Amino acid sequence: MSDSNTSAPGFSHEKIETNNFLMIVLILLVVAIGGMVEIVPLFFQKSTTEAVPGVKPYTALQLAGRDIYTREGCYNCHSQMIRPFRAETLRYGHYSVAGEFVYDHPFQWGSKRTGPDLQRVGAKYSDEWHRIHLNNPRDLVPESNMPAYPWLERTPVDSASIGTHMEALRRVGVPYTDAEIAKAGPDIQGKTELDALVAYLQGMGLALTNNMAGKTAAAPSGVPAAN
Ligand code: HEC
Repeated sequence: MSDSNTSAPGFSHEKIETNNFLMIVLILLVVAIGGMVEIVPLFFQKSTTEAVPGVKPYTALQLAGRDIYTREGCYNCHSQMIRPFRAETLRYGHYSVAGEFVYDHPFQWGSKRTGPDLQRVGAKYSDEWHRIHLNNPRDLVPESNMPAYPWLERTPVDSASIGTHMEALRRVGVPYTDAEIAKAGPDIQGKTELDALVAYLQGMGLALTNNMAGKTAAAPSGVPAAN
């Protein structure tokens, strides 16, 4: 190796390989460039930045439910990310695509699955099923180790801060209108946390599957059919 280096005067690999500091700096440089080449184009790609047709910003009630989902740590046991593998799509439905998450701040993809993935759970069960299940999962699934959340039914949803929350989301690109923000609080007043969480769960992952089922012509570009 040393022989081949002698041909280039002024530069030798030996210099780099025997100097820890130089080696570290150059490795960081190469990794940074490689990372940028992979990541930066994603910001400009339609399929990763544009909403799948039918994906709408969360309603005030769904958004409140989503907050409860994160507060209660549901993501510790449930992912919202169906991988593009046959075993996954057979069990859960169409795999997740980036355009489904454009209004999720922060997204709830997760990777821990003590329970099943929830991305396509919308409309899978009735509202009543979810109410009973969240109140005490064992009433419906005797072997379940999911915790019970009985307080959700008794706790009124926080209607005072939902407007400001929507304003904050608007700042990061969620297209809420002034009118929607103004009526968000009154809209959800009197609802319980359970109402909100069920509304959130029931809307999950439907836009893409509705697209696929209804009119394949309207399927988002770059999204091949499952399987
Ligand atoms: C300790 C882990 C754990 C936590 C935390 C947890 N779950 Fe579960 N969940 C499970 C398990 C295990 C199952 C499967 C058995 C069952 O249906 O109860 C499940 C099932 C579900 C199902 C039914 C999914 C299906 O397709 O049948 C829903 C909906 C659900 N959980 C919602 C939630 C929500 C909402 C929260 C937070 C409020 C939550 N879970 C918190 C473990 C958990």
